[in-house]
Amino acid sequence: MSEKRPRYLVTSALPYANGPLHVGQIVGAYLPADAFVRYLRARGEDVIYVCGTDEHGVPITLTAEREGKDPQDVVDYWWAHMKETFARFDISFDNFSHTSTPLHAENTQLFYRKLKEGGYISEAESKQMYSPTEERFLPDRYVEGTCPVCGYKEARGDQCDNCGSWYEAYELIDPHSKVTGGPAEVRETTHLYLDLPRLSERLREYVGGQEHWRSSVKNFILGIIDGGLEKRPITRDIKWGVPVPEPGFEDKRFYVWFDACIGYVSSTMEWAQNTGEPDRWREYWQEPDTRLIHFIGKDNTVFHSLVWPAQLMGVGEDGEEPFVLPYDVPANEFMNLEVVVEGERRAVQMSTSRNLAVWLHEALDRFPADPLRFYLASNLPETGDVVFSWREFGTRVNSDLIGNLGNYVNRVLSFTEKYADGESLRPESLPDEARAVLEDFKELERRYEERMLAPKPREALGELLAMGRRANRYFDASAPWKTRKDDPELTRTTLYVCSVLLGSIAYHAAPYVPEAIERLQTFFDGPVARVLDLEELPEAYRSTGAKPLFQRIEDEEIHAAEEQLSRAVRGE
Ligand code: 2FM
Ligand code: ZN
Repeated sequence: MSEKRPRYLVTSALPYANGPLHVGQIVGAYLPADAFVRYLRARGEDVIYVCGTDEHGVPITLTAEREGKDPQDVVDYWWAHMKETFARFDISFDNFSHTSTPLHAENTQLFYRKLKEGGYISEAESKQMYSPTEERFLPDRYVEGTCPVCGYKEARGDQCDNCGSWYEAYELIDPHSKVTGGPAEVRETTHLYLDLPRLSERLREYVGGQEHWRSSVKNFILGIIDGGLEKRPITRDIKWGVPVPEPGFEDKRFYVWFDACIGYVSSTMEWAQNTGEPDRWREYWQEPDTRLIHFIGKDNTVFHSLVWPAQLMGVGEDGEEPFVLPYDVPANEFMNLEVVVEGERRAVQMSTSRNLAVWLHEALDRFPADPLRFYLASNLPETGDVVFSWREFGTRVNSDLIGNLGNYVNRVLSFTEKYADGESLRPESLPDEARAVLEDFKELERRYEERMLAPKPREALGELLAMGRRANRYFDASAPWKTRKDDPELTRTTLYVCSVLLGSIAYHAAPYVPEAIERLQTFFDGPVARVLDLEELPEAYRSTGAKPLFQRIEDEEIHAAEEQLSRAVRGE
């Protein structure tokens, strides 16, 4: 009996709409998701991919205050900027929404009401940081101090970027206002709370049962649950955000992490409306055979693997269809940056405030999307932190993308055009070497698929490169440039088999370098597909006017890009 194929709902973390995107964000949540989704689509799976900007919270108000602008203007500007940059980078969202829409406010309030009806909301006085000089409560990220767990000096109000701990701002040592630098003190205020303790058994069972989660994510969350959950405040003393539908809360707003993940639902609803079938969002959120997969950077783990599932569990109890829970939360590690200072290379942490980052839109001004995607995909922080290096970018593109894959495509197509009238037809029979390489390819394809679905697109890319090497080896060993004089039939067979391999390489390369593979198909006429059944191979492949798919990266281009970073290090 064949198993019913799942339906996929894939999301990438909603980026704060307060500045340009940098490559660290891209390798965390966007490129791996895009490669995964493109592969699923090519396999004919039912998949939609949604995202949008996160437009609430302190990251937005801090930017607006610093720039003397209205928060709405800030988020509108950066929403458009990000949407364009993602499009230039060929990130293939089915919908890119934003969280300052009326639909999203409605959804957030609905989630709140349902949680309240389920008895998961309570009200309590709490301690909050207050700035006497600014005469206002300071939300989490307006406060900085020393981490109570690891001693890191620049820990944020809600979370430590150094050790990942999660605490209340008043637990910080030596807390101070991020805006004025002045001291912050503790005052009482009333807030609404989400009752996580009531869900802790269900959460433990849910997380504990996720055999396919990365063990780092699973163990981290189980550790938090076992340490004892506390009720978490879901409102803040701020003016920017989704209004709280409760008397007495007019001057407060929902905490950004209460509404952010609901943004995935809102974006799916917007997508459904745009397709003309406004109810279709339910298929993806309420049919139990959906696989909901959230790609994130590791700093978002607690919210996606613990708080968000709790929200979803809590709203699913009102007799309506319950929401699906995340099937997987692939959390990626961080990317550091290689800089050249006085001739020496070293890795440093990116710092967006010091402009010490590789901004995606600027990288795209220098190089096309495909080589950037290829290098970043070969360097995804799937298992540990990685370093972005412009020099390595040049090497990987020139040697792997061009030297291995591009070179293979050129050799096969130019040879076919030159010596076989641009055509290779299926031979009557396949010699042993041809069968062997096709069988090897099937195994490599299987390994690629296993890794891509894991989802570990960086490892899958390793298999693609192995396909390129194997195909080049077959071409070399078959030596069509020698056989073409005394054995034209064998030569035709070689070129045909090479074309089958080329179709497979193109199919598996498309998630990484989509533009090139689209271009390939304007001069390569034949299935871009996996090698399936050796007895049912395609009849013919044709090629006319083939051109190289990629351009070499020159040393001067690398130096110019490195120099930009060096200037940032020098503070210029
Ligand atoms: O860390 C961030 O950039 C958050 N804006 C991610 C939000 S993800 C989701 F909840 F929307
Ligand atoms: Zn810490």
